[in-house]
Amino acid sequence: MWRKSKMTQWIYAHRLRLLWCSGGAYLLAIALLSCGTLDSNRAIVAPPGVPGAQFIGMDKCANCHEEVVRDFVTATHARLKAPGTNATNTGCESCHGPGSLHAQAGGAANLIVNPRKSPQACFACHLDVRSQFQLPHHHPVLEGNMTCTDCHEPHKGKAMKGGPTGKAERIRGGGMAFLTENENCLQCHTAQRGPYVFEHEAMREGCTVCHRPHGSVNQRLLTERNQTLCLKCHFERQTSGGSILIGNVDHSFFLPQGTCWSAGCHEEPHGSNVTPFLRY
Ligand code: HEC
Ligand code: HEC
Ligand code: HEC
Ligand code: HEC
Ligand code: HEC
Ligand code: HEC
Ligand code: HEC
Repeated sequence: MWRKSKMTQWIYAHRLRLLWCSGGAYLLAIALLSCGTLDSNRAIVAPPGVPGAQFIGMDKCANCHEEVVRDFVTATHARLKAPGTNATNTGCESCHGPGSLHAQAGGAANLIVNPRKSPQACFACHLDVRSQFQLPHHHPVLEGNMTCTDCHEPHKGKAMKGGPTGKAERIRGGGMAFLTENENCLQCHTAQRGPYVFEHEAMREGCTVCHRPHGSVNQRLLTERNQTLCLKCHFERQTSGGSILIGNVDHSFFLPQGTCWSAGCHEEPHGSNVTPFLRY
């Protein structure tokens, strides 16, 4: 019979608290990081460069890119502000680099940074994201087969593509607004779209409950490599007789055979047309 070690039992018993602790630490780190970036009066990262060019400020870009500048007030990145002389290298030029030569030349493409061609401009501020794309399993952004803008919107609304961009849309989306976030992934991953006869309700929480969108140490970009992935939502209970119940079914015999989704068990974690148990 399969029995858990003391350590495993302890982790299982405390897994909620452990999750909260690590989540809290992560949030704190994010808060410190973004406050530092948002409120600092020093440029803490070097913006991308164009040799010989000066920062001219967003108003100048508006002369020729009226629409982009007009919509930009709604963008996540428009919240980046710096007082005084540092203000010129926020806004457009924080991603596109100094624009004086580009403007003087009437818009020469080779005199302005375009992050579509290389994500380095984004990494100036999001250094941690680069390391996520270097994990063993990742979306092929550094390889040049995809860009950040396949999933993110730099110029208007929320930086997360597919997410609700405004109050009106959120109301229209109602409680299902999260599904529009899946929509972006499903444009490329059509096989996961369904519709399924037996839908797995987990899909309503969004692809990111199970997948790390940038990269992961686990295969298939999974957030966890074993049953922990599924036990985040499905309750596991050990009876005095030593059986392990999940969904009221004795799993003590199944668990040692592999992950929940391999070994001929729940092989269709996205949904099934055959069985409510997501087997095929
Ligand atoms: C968060 C970074 C970021 C900021 C800030 C930003 N851009 Fe961009 N910009 C991008 C990316 C990424 C692309 C490439 C878009 C793509 O892949 O389709 C781009 C593309 C462009 C293009 C090329 C046309 C196009 O849509 O492909 C123009 C013009 C442009 N930006 C102007 C601006 C202006 C003007 C501002 C300020 C109001 C601005 N950008 C602010 C990241 C940014
Ligand atoms: C004098 C007009 C003018 C000004 C001012 C101007 N641009 Fe442009 N820009 C253009 C034109 C025209 C193009 C289109 C070039 C093309 O498609 O070949 C362009 C293209 C771009 C592109 C796309 C380059 C690419 O790789 O295809 C970006 C990014 C861009 N501009 C950003 C900016 C930013 C940021 C500013 C302000 C700092 C700015 N521009 C100011 C005229 C201007
Ligand atoms: C000058 C620094 C800077 C650059 C360059 C930059 N970002 Fe950001 N970005 C930030 C900061 C700061 C935040 C946090 C803003 C906030 O929480 O309000 C942020 C937030 C984000 C978010 C999260 C939005 C959310 O809703 O949580 C995404 C996604 C993002 N950036 C993508 C990009 C991409 C893609 C690029 C390159 C095209 C880029 N960023 C370039 C500073 C930058
Ligand atoms: C396959 C789609 C996809 C691609 C490509 C992608 N992202 Fe993301 N990104 C996401 C999703 C989805 C989230 C939200 C994560 C969550 O909710 O757990 C996110 C979150 C973020 C965040 C905020 C949270 C964090 O991890 O810091 C930043 C910043 C970010 N992305 C930057 C980038 C940059 C920079 C690139 C390009 C180098 C990029 N992303 C490419 C899908 C993508
Ligand atoms: C622009 C198209 C595109 C978008 C949008 C996209 N992906 Fe991908 N995805 C890819 C490509 C390309 C690969 C790499 C396939 C390969 O390496 O064989 C991939 C790989 C994956 C894999 C691993 C597949 C495997 O067989 O190992 C998963 C899981 C995944 N994506 C989930 C997502 C999720 C979740 C989102 C939304 C946050 C998303 N993708 C958005 C194109 C996309
Ligand atoms: C309940 C957790 C869960 C959710 C939610 C989820 N996935 Fe998955 N996904 C998995 C597991 C587990 C695998 C690995 C299946 C395997 O290896 O046989 C996987 C595999 C994949 C693959 C690799 C292709 C394949 O069949 O092996 C892609 C692509 C993918 N998922 C995309 C998505 C997209 C897009 C969404 C959101 C619409 C999503 N997933 C939501 C658990 C999930
Ligand atoms: C985000 C939460 C969440 C995650 C993660 C999750 N599930 Fe689910 N799952 C649900 C919900 C909600 C239901 C529907 C209610 C129920 O039957 O318990 C469900 C139903 C099921 C069912 C059908 C049960 C029945 O009796 O009809 C199976 C089988 C299942 N999930 C397997 C898995 C597997 C395997 C994984 C890991 C790959 C997983 N789930 C991950 C939330 C989740």
